[in-house]
Amino acid sequence: MITEILLRYIHFIALFFWIGALTSEHLLLKPQMSRAAITRLARIDAVYGISAVLVVAAGLTLWFGVGKPAEFYSGNWIFHVKVGLAVIVGLLSIYPTVFFTKNRKGQESEMIDIPSNIKLLVRIQLAIMLIIPLLATLMAKGIGT
Ligand code: HEM
Repeated sequence: MITEILLRYIHFIALFFWIGALTSEHLLLKPQMSRAAITRLARIDAVYGISAVLVVAAGLTLWFGVGKPAEFYSGNWIFHVKVGLAVIVGLLSIYPTVFFTKNRKGQESEMIDIPSNIKLLVRIQLAIMLIIPLLATLMAKGIGT
């Protein structure tokens, strides 16, 4: 019981950090940025990465480990859509992460052009993140089985 509560807490808190990092990236991204500013974005992106891993780890443990039986989730199509969307968000984050990591090195004041599709990818991730909690609430109530 306590383990389940702890895992749900981690799932939520890590989610707040994940969405917070994503929102910060969206607000900070500009068409041109200095390498120093890109380094800050790369740090925020690291918070994104760690929190995403925690959300998924807590989610998988809730699925296969503690709480309701695994079949409760495995047999629910809404749950699979939710997990699928979370995977898509993760995949969409690869290009921005690689770009921030590659471009933070070098002269700090040098200005770098940021490809417009990076902001678009962050926006799509934010939009998907708005849908997932609705799917989570529905499947937790057993809708979709
Ligand atoms: C692979 C990734 C994920 C897995 C395996 C996963 C799995 C789970 C599981 C097993 C639960 C427990 C549901 C219950 O109480 O019966 C849960 C709850 C929840 N998850 Fe996830 N999750 C994942 C990602 C996400 C993401 C990315 C979000 C939000 C953007 C999210 C939002 C929620 C919410 C809001 C709840 C609480 C639902 C409720 O009790 O009403 N999850 N998740």
